[in-house]
Amino acid sequence: MTEPGYLSETRAAYDAIAGEFAEWIRDELAAKPLDRAVLAAFAELARGPVADVGCGSGRITAHLRDLGVDAFGVDLSPEMVAVARRTHPGIRFEVGSMTALDLPEGSLGGLVAWYSIIHVPPADLPAVLAGFRRVLAPGGWLQLAFDIGDERLHRDEIGGHRVSLDFHQCRVDGVAALLTEAGFEVRARLERRPDEEGPFPETTPQAFVLARRPQAS
Ligand SMILES: C[S@@+](CC[C@H](N)C(=O)[O-])C[C@H]1O[C@@H](n2cnc3c(N)ncnc32)[C@H](O)[C@@H]1O
Repeated sequence: MTEPGYLSETRAAYDAIAGEFAEWIRDELAAKPLDRAVLAAFAELARGPVADVGCGSGRITAHLRDLGVDAFGVDLSPEMVAVARRTHPGIRFEVGSMTALDLPEGSLGGLVAWYSIIHVPPADLPAVLAGFRRVLAPGGWLQLAFDIGDERLHRDEIGGHRVSLDFHQCRVDGVAALLTEAGFEVRARLERRPDEEGPFPETTPQAFVLARRPQAS
């Protein structure tokens, strides 16, 4: 089956910018105490293997491992996976898409999608969330991070590279409703205002939604 055009475009975009993106984002978490708090709570809750889906350079995967989590990474872009493997040689990183996760049903204690569903068109999000639920064990935890808003932002150039990359903002209520429809319990929602100062300024509010596949499901 031919894959949707947006997947090819997203892969090509991150393949083109992989090295620069990894360098640019490297120290971001150190400047975001609330984001670290979200990941710390997730690390305490999730038991068993955790997939960091859309792991990019693997910085969140590595952070979770530092917190004692049995985390591995999956990313659409082979170049991003190559950067992640080079940067974190002791961690497992695989090429794969969240639209067709090559993981056994019920095999994960947790799944993190940290600013990666932002590249999934809204129409495809229900199927992606259903896939997340499928690979989580009953009682398994899902942590999402995304930009809040209603816009689709398109970039055709990043750092001098020609790309075609869409960023989809979401509303927390909308994502929570989709999670519920996909069979998750929404357990926590954090919205924070954009950091307007500091080394990693933001222009939109940021959302962190924690959900769980119910025990009896
Ligand atoms: C904004 S980056 C975030 C990377 C990483 N989570 C972080 O916070 O540093 C988005 C990542 O999601 C990946 N991605 C986009 N669509 C994906 C898909 N369908 N399946 C897996 N990864 C995807 C991209 O290749 C890219 O590495």
